[in-house]
Amino acid sequence: MNHKSRIISPSRPTLHFIARFIFARMDRVVSGIRPTGRLHLGNYFGALKNFLQMQHEHQCFFFIADYHSLTTHPNPQNLKGNVRTVLAEYLACGLDPDQCTLYIQSDLPQTAELYLLLNMHAYVGELERSTTFKDKVRQQPDNVNAGLLTYPVLMAADILIHRAAKVPVGKDQEQHLEMTRTFGNRFNRIYKSDIFPEPVAFNFGKQLVKVPGLDGSGKMGKSEGEGNAIFLSDAPDVIRKKVMRAVTDSGPTVSNSPKPEAIQNLFTLMSIVSKPETVKYFEEAYNNCSIRYGDMKKQLAEDMVVFTTPISEKIKETEADTSLLQKAISIGKEKAHQSANETLKLVRTAIGFSV
Ligand code: TYM
Repeated sequence: MNHKSRIISPSRPTLHFIARFIFARMDRVVSGIRPTGRLHLGNYFGALKNFLQMQHEHQCFFFIADYHSLTTHPNPQNLKGNVRTVLAEYLACGLDPDQCTLYIQSDLPQTAELYLLLNMHAYVGELERSTTFKDKVRQQPDNVNAGLLTYPVLMAADILIHRAAKVPVGKDQEQHLEMTRTFGNRFNRIYKSDIFPEPVAFNFGKQLVKVPGLDGSGKMGKSEGEGNAIFLSDAPDVIRKKVMRAVTDSGPTVSNSPKPEAIQNLFTLMSIVSKPETVKYFEEAYNNCSIRYGDMKKQLAEDMVVFTTPISEKIKETEADTSLLQKAISIGKEKAHQSANETLKLVRTAIGFSV
């Protein structure tokens, strides 16, 4: 009897059963990004970097949040182009449609049904207290639509439709996650069910991240003004120009003085893209008042270029490959539907819809 013939190989149904068992026990993960422009370092380090690692360890659902982007009334051509761009950038960064479920939010109308159902138990008072809503009311007083008010309910529907436990996001989404837990728990309580777990905002680095912008204050954002954000697709010279224009001051005059916000932001950016010894070198120079911000910015720009160049090259390649983009999204749609239908069935039964 040869050695090989003694190995007992499990049958296909057994393997299938084992795979389903392992899959069912894995934490489910959901997250999305709005198609409102190209992805920047804030999106990458706040969210995408975690997506890339989690896709190998969990059952992940990552989507392009096109319903959410409608609050600012994009025209159809822009919306279409932006969805395609985010999809290409997801793939170029390393999201793998075989490792995770990648889909477009509007391809999953089950989310809209769950949003409607959750809206019945979301109160205007609590929605009006959301920080994001209050900010939007200030920023766009002429367009305070109901979609803005109920934005956190739609986000809860995105997460709860797959009964996710972990949601990789940046610090700015923390309150939305808190509201998601409130809506999920409320549903469970009202309908005496345990359909929804309590999802948590997640980052491998333990703390949620806020990547600052280059304009001296606040976070890096797509619409925070020209030069504030470094996009993954930016050419090296564009990055150099943006970084060299970043806000600084005349430099410290007293040893070990606290850093003003604009300077702290440069150090934070450096800690994200540069080697620890580089950060240490400039920290020491700052503390002994010998720092030259011009040198620091040159170094920061070069480290950003080293980080983004392979990604931006891959983005160009991916954007040109229509069949790859279409294939990625059609596999994902199928898988997302299956998961969402399972949840909706439980939800509809709990509410009393089915006969
Ligand atoms: P959006 O499109 O504004 O941003 C996408 C992701 O990038 C993170 N992010 C940042 N992280 C750190 N520093 C920054 N400067 C920075 N800028 C953006 C965001 O925290 C986010 O994780 N509402 C969401 C989209 C969404 C969603 C969801 C997310 C809709 N449904 C369900 C998770 C789960 C948004 O507007 O993200």
